[in-house]
Amino acid sequence: MIIRGKGKYPYKIEIPGDKSISHRSIIFSSISKGKTRIKNILLSEDVIRTIECFKAMGVEIKVFNDENEVEIIGVGLDGLKKPEGELYCGNSGTTMRLMAGLLVGQKFDSTLTGDKSLTSRPMGRIIKPLKKMGASIEASEDNTAPLKIIGNKDIKSIDYKMPVDSAQLKSCIILASLYAERDSHIMEKNPSRDHTERMLYYFRENNWKVKELFIPGDISSAAYFIAGGLINKGSKIKLKKIGVNKTRTGIIDVFKDMGGNIEIENKMKINNEDMADIIVRKSSLKGINIGRDIMGRMIDEIPILSVVASFANGKTLITGAEELRYKETDRISATYNELKKFGVNIEELEDGLKIKESLDLKSAIVKSYGDHRMAMALTIMAYNIDGKSEILNSNAVKISFPNFYKTFQ
Ligand code: S3P
Repeated sequence: MIIRGKGKYPYKIEIPGDKSISHRSIIFSSISKGKTRIKNILLSEDVIRTIECFKAMGVEIKVFNDENEVEIIGVGLDGLKKPEGELYCGNSGTTMRLMAGLLVGQKFDSTLTGDKSLTSRPMGRIIKPLKKMGASIEASEDNTAPLKIIGNKDIKSIDYKMPVDSAQLKSCIILASLYAERDSHIMEKNPSRDHTERMLYYFRENNWKVKELFIPGDISSAAYFIAGGLINKGSKIKLKKIGVNKTRTGIIDVFKDMGGNIEIENKMKINNEDMADIIVRKSSLKGINIGRDIMGRMIDEIPILSVVASFANGKTLITGAEELRYKETDRISATYNELKKFGVNIEELEDGLKIKESLDLKSAIVKSYGDHRMAMALTIMAYNIDGKSEILNSNAVKISFPNFYKTFQ
């Protein structure tokens, strides 16, 4: 994708439904007892993988592409059927790790696999607690997918102190725990997103019959345009109906601490999630230090924070972010390598990045490493630099924000 620099953003930008909540809405609706209509669902590549997994296990799912809606007829906790082939999770870590939790308690065996990136990501973190719960899982020698799961109706509860702050790990254990007789206890050091907990409570409160769900806009997708608005001359941008669950708003707190002019209005609650409109204006920014305690609340926003930090006065220090090395690509080294090509004053640390205000920025040819968040962060950078840049393999945006580039037309 060619990006010509110093363009303007429109005042109103549409942000698609939240990816994490979309995955969970499909999972919980599929194992519920009724028919659920899911509105404003994100129909991106990752979420389609979750839909396809449940279809392969006999769940009736109708997709209404033009409306961004889906209708699911739940089969109950024990109603899933053995899939014929392997369950293909594509690029989606959320699909693989959450499905693994759900599958250990089934009466049938199954295999989860994925693309080149996903089959090289760490699965030992879920295999260990699931085995403690009585699951039987075979993985490759270095604990990567494909994962062969032997169904077991005698899954035990667990008391588990999480070794990493990961919502995918936490959610995997929660879903496996639904098949255990006694309660499980999961302890996390720092908060990670709690969408699974919220949706589980919502389905339970409604006796596992939920007629309708509305998915708030994805704050991680909104973050690219909040960033664009903060650094792009003369900007004022309004993003409506964005999820502002406090386990996800670390990036808003950080941008505000940097001096960002961000207003949150029209706060409301929708199926146990918080939602609001966000208004952002061009701001004069200063560098900041952030560490491990906030990382779980903004884990996907480090590449875009690094872009914004390049325009902020002084130095930004990001530490406690080593989990970024295990995402769709190693996002610490990818951010370092590609921002350097734009002339950013950046240093790579083992567990983070150090970025200084960069005054000699130049257009560049950069690559996404097939990672959607890298493609989007690099695009926002290129859009704020004079001249013509190119983002290679920008097609990766289809993973979480298929219409991303339409905003720039
Ligand atoms: C997600 C959790 C995070 C995040 C990912 C989505 C989820 O991963 O990076 O994009 O939906 O639970 P980890 O839990 O591995 O940090």
